[in-house]
Amino acid sequence: MGSLPKEAVYVEANVTERGLIERLKRSGFVPNEKSAFIIEGLIYYLKPKGVDSLFEELAQIPLIGNLFLIDQISEGMRQNSPDLDKRKTPLYPADLAIYLTERGFSIREYFSLGDPTERYYGKSYPERWWIIAAVK
Ligand SMILES: C[S@@+](CC[C@H](N)C(=O)[O-])C[C@H]1O[C@@H](n2cnc3c(N)ncnc32)[C@H](O)[C@@H]1O
Repeated sequence: MGSLPKEAVYVEANVTERGLIERLKRSGFVPNEKSAFIIEGLIYYLKPKGVDSLFEELAQIPLIGNLFLIDQISEGMRQNSPDLDKRKTPLYPADLAIYLTERGFSIREYFSLGDPTERYYGKSYPERWWIIAAVK
């Protein structure tokens, strides 16, 4: 198994709370330097207000040159996931690509995890989608 470099810093945070970027900055994050954000297995665990707060925070940093990998599942996969609380709200955002575009992100790639996961893990997730968003 791989390991993180020694200089990696862990920052504990509730990503749905305002002040996320300030918190990262206090731990050494430099907004004007190129960064990659991997937001995996996360947004479908959050309430809509929490998702909005997270992306409002991210939109504060210069989006140009930064890379965001974000996954979203379909409503069908969500309904079949026992650990997700589906009763209170519908899938949010219903269309992640439109949601991100409206917030100034531009979509570089949008693909299903069907083929790669089948090949490498023997299990397919055709209803799980990845977006790679970066601006211009
Ligand atoms: C399905 S796991 C995926 C985690 C990660 N992508 C990985 O591969 O290990 C979902 C994670 O989201 C975290 N999480 C859920 N709500 C959160 C929140 N409001 N703030 C920060 N993390 C949260 C949980 O603690 C959990 O570790």
